[in-house]
Amino acid sequence: MTREWDAATYDRVALSHHDWATVVLDRLTLDGDETVLDAGCGSGKVTEQLLARLPRGRVVALDGSARMLVQARRRLAAHLDRVTFVHADLARSLPVEPVDAVVSSATFHWIADHRALFTNLAAILRPSGRLVAQCGGLGNVASVRRAVSAVRPLLPDPWHFATPEDAGADLAAAGFVDVRTWLTPATVAVPADDMESYLASVVLGSHLEHVAEAERSDFVRAVADRLPGPEIDYVRLNVVGRSGRGSVGGAT
Ligand SMILES: C[S@@+](CC[C@H](N)C(=O)[O-])C[C@H]1O[C@@H](n2cnc3c(N)ncnc32)[C@H](O)[C@@H]1O
Repeated sequence: MTREWDAATYDRVALSHHDWATVVLDRLTLDGDETVLDAGCGSGKVTEQLLARLPRGRVVALDGSARMLVQARRRLAAHLDRVTFVHADLARSLPVEPVDAVVSSATFHWIADHRALFTNLAAILRPSGRLVAQCGGLGNVASVRRAVSAVRPLLPDPWHFATPEDAGADLAAAGFVDVRTWLTPATVAVPADDMESYLASVVLGSHLEHVAEAERSDFVRAVADRLPGPEIDYVRLNVVGRSGRGSVGGAT
């Protein structure tokens, strides 16, 4: 299973993530009665936006973090009749009934094998079902990466920031058609006073698992001190595609 998150802090501080997700959701035209998977639903803020676009539909809120799912269940308490929560790893075959569409925000870069990920998503999409997603792409948080390498050169790098070309090839290999992939720079200003807690809860969670508890705050401070300014240089990889099942020339 994937790692745990500080769900309450993420929910409070990841404001730009939710703005990005709104743009992603706007790319998915819905009739309002579909069933849609939120792949990596986190604390449920994006899921809540998705539910508002599905007045007669359903959402499958899937995440690998039990704490995130607890937070999401709390946020979506008024809609439990229309939400199915699933604790699962997107890198493995998914225990999910067929869905009309998949949305995902800020999640895919945590998964090393994108071909397996897209294959797992393709397997639960109905014929011609759509995938609309965004995650970190090539160049994402480059200044944080440089700072981490300077402070702790031996820490494992947890991220997979793919190029649009590689993501496109992985989607095609998984049977997606009408694929478009592109990068969007999205630098975010973070108040200097909030930088350490932002880094600890949103960006460096995986790194911290490899740092002794007593050394964590010094590590985060050293990374923050090495950043060129009070901002994070995000670069987002946008992904849209459609299941090739059911289309002429598509996979069967
Ligand atoms: C940065 S949060 C994004 C949450 C939400 N989509 C948003 O935009 O606010 C990334 C989420 O992806 C989940 N995640 C990462 N790797 C995963 C995996 N292999 N399987 C399932 N969930 C995963 C994490 O648990 C976390 O909740």
